[in-house]
Amino acid sequence: MAVSKTFVLALAAALAPGALGRVLPPSDTLRINADSNPYCPAGSTCVLDGKFLAPELDFASESSSGEAAFKQYLPTHTFTVSQWNNGKMPERCYYWAVEADKWNAADFTVYNVTFSDCSTPYVVCRHKNAPKTVSEIATVISRVPIKIRQANSIYLVYSDSQSDNPNYTGYLATLAGDGIVIGRSTAYFTAPLIHETTHDVDYRFVTPETSFSDSATWRNAVAADGYNISPYGAVSYAEGFADTGKAVLLDAIYPGGLAAWSTAGANLTQVANQLRVFKATVGSYYTTGGTCDPAKKFPFPTVLRDVPLPATTTRPPVTATPYGQCGGWSTYTGPTACGTPYSCTSLNPYYSQCVPTPAP
Ligand SMILES: *[C@@H]1O[C@H](CO)[C@@H](O)[C@H](O)[C@H]1NC(C)=O
Ligand SMILES: *[C@@H]1O[C@H](CO)[C@@H](O)[C@H](O)[C@H]1NC(C)=O
Ligand SMILES: *[C@@H]1O[C@H](CO)[C@@H](O)[C@H](O)[C@H]1NC(C)=O
Repeated sequence: MAVSKTFVLALAAALAPGALGRVLPPSDTLRINADSNPYCPAGSTCVLDGKFLAPELDFASESSSGEAAFKQYLPTHTFTVSQWNNGKMPERCYYWAVEADKWNAADFTVYNVTFSDCSTPYVVCRHKNAPKTVSEIATVISRVPIKIRQANSIYLVYSDSQSDNPNYTGYLATLAGDGIVIGRSTAYFTAPLIHETTHDVDYRFVTPETSFSDSATWRNAVAADGYNISPYGAVSYAEGFADTGKAVLLDAIYPGGLAAWSTAGANLTQVANQLRVFKATVGSYYTTGGTCDPAKKFPFPTVLRDVPLPATTTRPPVTATPYGQCGGWSTYTGPTACGTPYSCTSLNPYYSQCVPTPAP
């Protein structure tokens, strides 16, 4: 049922994380001119010479109108969080975070997150300096409709700070065959998650399971239109398909559909074939409500790696020195334990001291 292993490995080897499904940072703002695609410099192999819908559909940042519409019309779901404290990390978190992207394994905490619309837990591997808390991350993920969210099982969340890992320049990515979304905390908002999740849908939800965006059906739809849905979507058929997922979902949830939302004047006729073929193929997944389907849900990760336990769980209790202070008035903040064979004995309300434990 999953993508063949060879294919997954080929992707992993050929592409740095970030290369598949990377959404560039919102600061990349070159727009409008259909002949000047920021992602398609001269000589690149962009689809249709990089021609794209202009003005663009606005999903670029966390304050974009597309994100606002997702926030308004995609309900969040409640969830429970439980932290792993067993010195293990899913192999796929370890591979991407530590081996590929060179973060420090000891800086990650692993959580099960169980959403109210799916009894199988998801896993969040979070860098300790990620500005978004595990709860904030889970809330964002919970907006992704379960019918497509079930295509994933792991979310790997990095710090946003360049100083934590000067060599990491990625934003948000997925390795669709592995059901993992990988990226910076700042990229964890609805629109990029829909984009990445659509890559997983592309790989896993169309029979035969390969990559629907590679099929003649999809390529013909793009060719018939003559335009890509977005500048980034022009980079490849897979990226165009992933960006189409955002438009199709918005069309399904927004009152009056995509045309009513897209009042900036984008000519949707220019991508009509792509919208139509996308909807005819996987459109039924792009709707809210329901629960996860065991036959579709990407399995919970069972291949694990040993990792150092977080410092807080291994730190031994601090003990006071022999005959040192181990307690006192309410303002006392020093150690309160004594090493053997001493025990903490109160001498008066202001002072307790480590003295040899009396023989029984
Ligand atoms: C996480 O979920 C898995 C799969 O259901 C379960 O086996 C494991 O005990 C859970 N761990 C925690 C810490 O909740
Ligand atoms: C970061 O990149 C530099 C230059 O390529 C390299 O020398 C260094 O080893 C890298 N650091 C890590 C942690 O990979
Ligand atoms: C919209 O695009 C279609 C297809 O390219 C074109 O035929 C039509 O004239 C355009 N409409 C407007 C108002 O520009």
